[in-house]
This record gives sequence, structure tokens and C-alpha cells, in this order.
Amino acid sequence: MKLDRKEIIEALESITVPGEGKNMVESGAVQNVMTFGDEVVVDLVIGNPSLQAKKKAEVEIMKVIHDKVYEKAKIKVNIKVETPEKPEIKGKSIPGIKNIVAVASGKGGVGKSTITANIAATLAKMGFKVGVLDADIYGPSAPIMFDVADQKPLAVDIDGKSKMKPIENYGVKILSIGFFTQPNQAVIWRGPMAAKALNQMIFDAAWGELDFLLLDLPPGTGDIHLSIMQSLPITGAVVVSTPQNVALADARKGVAMFQQESINVPVLGIVENMAYFTPEELPDNKYYIFGKEGAKNLSEDLQVPFLGEIPLVQSIREAGDVGRPAALQENTPLADAFDQLTKNVVQEVVSRNQSLPPTEAIAITTMAGCSAVKK
Ligand SMILES: Nc1ncnc2c1ncn2[C@@H]1O[C@H](COP(=O)(O)OP(=O)(O)OP(=O)(O)O)[C@@H](O)[C@H]1O
Ligand SMILES: [Mg+2]
Repeated sequence: MKLDRKEIIEALESITVPGEGKNMVESGAVQNVMTFGDEVVVDLVIGNPSLQAKKKAEVEIMKVIHDKVYEKAKIKVNIKVETPEKPEIKGKSIPGIKNIVAVASGKGGVGKSTITANIAATLAKMGFKVGVLDADIYGPSAPIMFDVADQKPLAVDIDGKSKMKPIENYGVKILSIGFFTQPNQAVIWRGPMAAKALNQMIFDAAWGELDFLLLDLPPGTGDIHLSIMQSLPITGAVVVSTPQNVALADARKGVAMFQQESINVPVLGIVENMAYFTPEELPDNKYYIFGKEGAKNLSEDLQVPFLGEIPLVQSIREAGDVGRPAALQENTPLADAFDQLTKNVVQEVVSRNQSLPPTEAIAITTMAGCSAVKK
């Protein structure tokens, strides 16, 4: 059997590239096709660095060649990842902010804001310069979780320009849409408006030097998310899920949202929140009330890192309500869990920055900061 190169190319033309409305050949993804008897080698360039995207492209190519040309063809697909240039607005640099980490979930109420507040407090404890931008226009939480709800950011003059000065507590700088909206007032905004407000809170704010700016996103995967994602240079995303199936299905959508080609934000990993219930007085007892290791299994399935698990404990909720993140308690198993989670996030940011082109000038390239943990 001698394979015909033209037939192979025609078969590849039946594969459409998601989001581009072009087929794989038209889009320029197929760089070269070579045939040797019953063997075919396809050189492919793709923009999405995820393993999942690579696997999908490979499987599709094999399938169309087997189905349309020759079912016994021996196929080799060489895949090269070339991350596309970010759109102009994404390249806008934010002086002083090294990494923007978005914290997202598909489902609401799984603990994004709680996890964001605790990672931020832990990063500050470790010696990093950290900010939190509460982007949840439906229900801002950061002002309460950091006990700063009664404060208003002031304007400061920086190089002749008036800038918003974030509020600071526990070594964390905070800006929230909640500082500018009335409590109990439902904010009905569309994506572009939310993105504009957030842009102002990033570009027109006096954050100073930050190693990490954590972005606490609203729940869901709607147009607000698309606008935010496309208008900000986000280094990577942390997806929070609880272990039960309804939350996992939404977390899967969350991961897919970041990985889609028009967004292309690296997923740093998945956090399992409310992994099990532990009564404070019986710390060794673990009750898997929402199911066991659901988010961990999901991360394996999607081939994204598993960042850690946080138990369901009353003190986390209480700490959130009082406005002092639970991770700040000294030497508790909970503080250890948040330490481990935070180290994993830092580690993933470091390896992301080493393996992918920067969205920004990125300076953190070692774990050195973590050794500065002050206990
Ligand atoms: N591990 C935990 N243990 C106990 N309570 C928790 C835990 N995680 C979150 N909570 C509580 O659950 C509630 C919801 O958490 P949180 O507001 O962080 O979720 P969210 O995902 O940000 O919600 P939303 O989708 O509305 O933004 C809060 O009262 C919080 O204190
Ligand atoms: Mg929230």
C-alpha cells in the first residue's frame, strides 16, 4: 500500500480548528505531511499547550486518516506548541505586578473567596508581596473576609496621576468592587463593564510592587469571565471545586474555559475544598460527606496538577465571617494545609513561568521566597 499525500491532506481538511472557523490545513497548523509506503508523518503546530489539546489533535488526525484514507495506515504526529502572541491588550504591562493568578470555579459557593483569602494571607506570611482583587460583582467577599468592609480606598497622587490606594490588612493589599457598590444592591453588569471596572482597579491603582495579585472571580463561566480573561494578562488560573459531582461538572467547564484557544490561560491546578468534614474536637476523624477525592480524580482526568485539599471545618467559616483568614492561626493542621496548598501554587507559577512565554515580565523563578516562611 502506497499512501497518497494529497489524499491525506484532503482528509486533514475535514478537521476544524476550534474557535477559528478554519480547517487544520487552512489555519496553517499542518506544517508538513510526508508519506513512506503505508506510513505517514504529520508535523503539526498548535497554540494550546495543554496535554489534553495535544492528545485531541493527535486522535483526530489518526481517526480521519484511518477512516478516509487507509484503515491500517501507520501514523506519526509530531506536535510543536507555539503559543500565539497575546492580543494587544493582553500585552499591556502592569508595572510592578509580576503574576496575576485568577481563582475560579464553575459552581458558586464552593469556597473561591475563602481559598483566595487564605492563599493571600499565607503568601504574605511567607514574605511575598501580595494583593487581592475581588472581582465578584455579584457578591464581593474580600471586604468582609479581610475585615475592611468599613473602609474606602483613598486617591493618592503618583507621578502627577491620581491613583486608587488599595486597603491593607494582614500584609495583603485589597481592592474590591464591593468598596464602590452599596451593600445589598444587586449589581447588574455585563461583561465589558465588569472588565472595564477591573481594568481600572488594576491599571489605575497604586498596587506598588506585587509578587502575586490574586483575582477572586465571580462564579460561573459566562461572558463576564471571557471579558476579564481577554482584557487582563493572567499568568495562570486556580480552579476550586468541592468533591461532589455537580461541582466537579462545573469545575470541568471552568478548566475548559481557561484552556479554550481564545483565552489560553494556563491552569495551574485544582484545589479540593471541603474535601472532608473534621469536627474540631476530633481532628483525626474525617467524614467524606461530599464524596471522596472527586476533585483529585478530576485533576488526574484532565491532566492538570492537584494543588491540595482543604477540609470543611467550622473555624474556616467563622474566620471568614470575623474577617481574619483561618490560615493565620499559628501551628494548626489547617494552617499547615494552607501552607502546603500555597507552596504548590507558587511552585506551579514558577514552572509555568519557566515553560511558557510570559504574559508579563516575570521575576519569580525560584522557590526561595518559600523558605522565608515565618512561623
Ligand atoms: N473549607 C471550608 N470549611 C468551612 N466553611 C467553608 C469552607 N470553605 C468555604 N466555607 C464557607 O462557605 C461559604 C462560601 O464560601 P465562599 O464565599 O468562599 O465561596 P465562593 O465560591 O467564593 O462563593 P461565590 O460563588 O458566591 O463567590 C462561606 O460562608 C465560607 O466561610
Ligand atoms: Mg466568592
